[in-house]
Amino acid sequence: MSENQSNFSGLKLEWDRSPGHPSLIRQLEHGLRTAVQRGQLPAGARLPASRVLADQLGCSRWVVVQAYEQLVAEGYFASVTGAGTYVQSLPAHDERRHRSSIENISWRYDFAAGIPDLSLFPRREWLAATRSALNTAPSAEFDYGTPAGLLALRTNLAAYLGRVRGAVAVADDLVITNGVVHAVAVMARAMRARGFDRIGVEHPGWIPLRTPFDGSGLTPIPIPVDSEGLDVTELIRSGARAVLISPAHQFPVGSVMSPRRRAALLEWADAVDGLIIEDDYDAEFRYDRNPLAAIQGLLPERVVLVGSVSKSLAPALRLGWMVLPESWKTPALDALRAVDPSVAVISQLAFAEYLSSGGFERHLRRMRKDYAGRRQQLVASMTEHFPNVTVQGISAGLHLMADLGPGSDIAFAAQAAAQQIRVYPVSRYCLNRDIPDQYMNRRAVVLGYGGIPQHRIAEGIKTLSNIASTI
Ligand SMILES: Cc1ncc(COP(=O)(O)O)c(C=O)c1O
Repeated sequence: MSENQSNFSGLKLEWDRSPGHPSLIRQLEHGLRTAVQRGQLPAGARLPASRVLADQLGCSRWVVVQAYEQLVAEGYFASVTGAGTYVQSLPAHDERRHRSSIENISWRYDFAAGIPDLSLFPRREWLAATRSALNTAPSAEFDYGTPAGLLALRTNLAAYLGRVRGAVAVADDLVITNGVVHAVAVMARAMRARGFDRIGVEHPGWIPLRTPFDGSGLTPIPIPVDSEGLDVTELIRSGARAVLISPAHQFPVGSVMSPRRRAALLEWADAVDGLIIEDDYDAEFRYDRNPLAAIQGLLPERVVLVGSVSKSLAPALRLGWMVLPESWKTPALDALRAVDPSVAVISQLAFAEYLSSGGFERHLRRMRKDYAGRRQQLVASMTEHFPNVTVQGISAGLHLMADLGPGSDIAFAAQAAAQQIRVYPVSRYCLNRDIPDQYMNRRAVVLGYGGIPQHRIAEGIKTLSNIASTI
């Protein structure tokens, strides 16, 4: 390594010593920041000790310490007492720009959170539903669809949501969307048009659900979540008049909203003349009992119920819905027209057919049984190999959160990645990398089981526990 050059983990840093060059501290900061932004330093990567990097670069340790501190303050790095400095998980980067660096790893075990088993997509049944729909649909259906969506699909979905989710809905209340994120984007626009400027969001929560608020004029206010769901007292304190919640199974904490919080939420909504966007995430998959009915059924005039088939069938379909209160229909449809009114009509035809044939509910029954087995296996393996683990969340959905004790979640995920095991640190689901106290310096990770068949779970967790014992 030359005197003024460093190369760790494939990263190359060079000093600029031309006249008027920026200070060495600024240059190092810039080099490291750019490396994170470009994915050359992936989330969880451990930085060399300041003394080591200073030696490599031929600068004083002070320069490195100052650069590290700056990047910790900016949120690019996290400094863990006694364990060193790590690259933070930057949600936007992880999700989009930096996908390539992490996706190049061929995972032995990917505990991907919130992804169904894509190999179990009911190809034959979907094909049959599509064939039947194409055989019977009048040619006029192949035109641009109406913004609200296909009437047959809205009718079948309203019946399904009423029967299975306790929703109060008729076809006219439904709008078909490209999924939950699309529905939230539409509602963000509609809410802004009606004078809302803030919305409470779950913290931690699924970051792509925040994206629709970027540039919408609505500011997302992080509201803490615990084992009873969203903290309604904090919501009241925030002064927001709107909230986005996933009460059936919160991602990533895994809680279901308790009856007393549900009651408090409804009281709040009435008191502030507010709006609840209810993301019915994971409601199809409850293993210990029947899921609680959607909150929408209790207060349909203040709740927009949103859902999709991304977990029950496959994200690739891009099919979802929203059930709208009367007073939000026009603003939501106006917003939809402005954003993008088109959801592929042929997919809508096929889904309408799949619902009315009973195929969708049969598929859900099969998947429920399969995922319940995987979850049971995962909990048993975690308990066996991590005796001090706390598994959080109800018996539902496609993921659980495991607190493995003190330490850095990012460092733990990085150690696992080095062994081609992918786990998801909870801090990547924290807005602005603001980590709630209960997860600060905890090895809290989200483990999904949609992508790992039951017979491989025990082996994956055992391998993970070997890694844990070495750090
Ligand atoms: C909390 C939450 N809501 C909704 C979704 C589904 O979003 P979409 O319907 O846009 O695929 C996900 C996907 O992982 C999620 O985590």
